[in-house]
Formats: sequence, structure tokens, C-alpha cells
Amino acid sequence: MELYDVMRTTFAAREFTDDPLPDATLAKILDHARFAPSGGNRQGWHVIVVRERATREALAAATVPAAKRYAAQLKLGESPWNTIVPTRADAATIEATPAPERLIEPVLKAPVVLVVCVDLRLVASMDQDLDRVGVISGASIYPFVWNILLAARHEGFAGTITTLAVAQEPALRAALGIPAHVAVCAVMPLGKPLKPLSRLKRKPVEQFATRERWDGPALAP
Ligand SMILES: Cc1cc2nc3c(=O)[nH]c(=O)nc-3n(C[C@H](O)[C@H](O)[C@H](O)COP(=O)(O)O)c2cc1C
Repeated sequence: MELYDVMRTTFAAREFTDDPLPDATLAKILDHARFAPSGGNRQGWHVIVVRERATREALAAATVPAAKRYAAQLKLGESPWNTIVPTRADAATIEATPAPERLIEPVLKAPVVLVVCVDLRLVASMDQDLDRVGVISGASIYPFVWNILLAARHEGFAGTITTLAVAQEPALRAALGIPAHVAVCAVMPLGKPLKPLSRLKRKPVEQFATRERWDGPALAP
């Protein structure tokens, strides 16, 4: 496939056909994804391939609390789970908000679910002493995660990076036997996408790129 086509069309697939995603194809996808960069080339990733019903149900159950808060915040016009603007959704409102099916069902119905983890002993987190939420650690794992979706696309498959379940990481640890020094980074349902591609909605370059300074003139394409 042409690289720019892949970059412009790799969408978040949440509904899948019944076509299987065999281990051989999965191994091929991971064999290409592993060339992703990571800080110091430490390659701290570990992928758990989930097919069993009981494990899927544990993943779905772990997704529910965060999905409820996500939906409650969306209803209030907030940017869900951000760490800067406090939410106006109280505990009772969140509890009363149903978890949207589209956020829960993919882990139950996708042909396969990947739980991508990273060994924090191998991750350089240069922002660990700053007075804000850490983002640098993610840079050592999400290029790999994205490579999985790109390779899947090349093989005719698709999926989604999901993170809601990570709010319940202790439950995931217990269900999947993940050690304490390892973080869960993404839960990725994968399969043959049910719907054809639609045009992806993204901001144009001039809305996010500026010259020399944050408030500099826009970089026009
Ligand atoms: C870091 C990250 C976390 C995400 N978490 C979830 C999630 O928990 N559940 C979900 O359904 N989608 C999740 N998504 C998918 C986004 O909603 C999706 O990438 C975005 O809406 C763009 O979708 P599109 O490419 O189909 O336009 C996540 C994506 C990223 C990059």
C-alpha cells in the first residue's frame, strides 16, 4: 500500500466481521510492528494475545467504570479524563450514566484482542519530576502500538487503540498476571473491519503548526 494512503485511512475500527485473525497473521503483524522506535531502543513492550471469553469479560468489566465517566463528561461538553480542567460530573451522575456499548463491545466481539504492556524498568520518563501528568513514557510504546495498526491495515485488518480499561489497571493485573513494574498501555480489539473506510476528520495543518513560537504565525501547507 502507498504510505500516505495508509496514514490517511487508518481509522479506529470497532466493529468486525466474523473472519478470523489467525495467529500466523498476528505474528506477521507484530514482526513488522517491532521495528518501532523506543527511548534508547529498550523495546520494553510485551503483547498479550487474548482470545478466551473469560479474559475478554474481565477486559470489558474493567472498561465500564471509565466509559461511564467518559460518557458523563461528554454529555457535559467536557474533554473526558483531562487532567487540567476539573470535571463537573459528580460520582452519582457518573454512576447513573450507562457505559456506551460501542466502548465495551469491541473487546467481547473482535476476533482477537491485544493487551499491549510496557516494562517501566526500561522506560526513560524525562517528565517524571514535572508538575503535570507524564506523557514522555508513552513515547516509548505508542509508536509500536500504532505500527500494529498500520501493519494490520496492510494485512486487511483493523482495530482501535483503547485505554479506558487502564483506569482499572489493578484488575487487569489480576486477570492477566501482569507484574507490578509493567504498565498496561493499550487494549486493542483487532479484526476485519465491518464498515468500509470513511474520510477521517482531522484539523488542517494551519490550525496546529506555528512558526518559531507557540503564538507564531501559522505554517500553511
Ligand atoms: C491514546 C488513545 C486512547 C484511546 N482510547 C480509546 C478507548 O478507550 N476506547 C475507544 O473506543 N477508542 C479509543 N481511542 C480511539 C479514538 O477514539 C480514535 O482514535 C479517534 O476517535 C479517531 O478515530 P478515527 O481514526 O476513526 O477518526 C483511543 C485512541 C488513542 C490514540
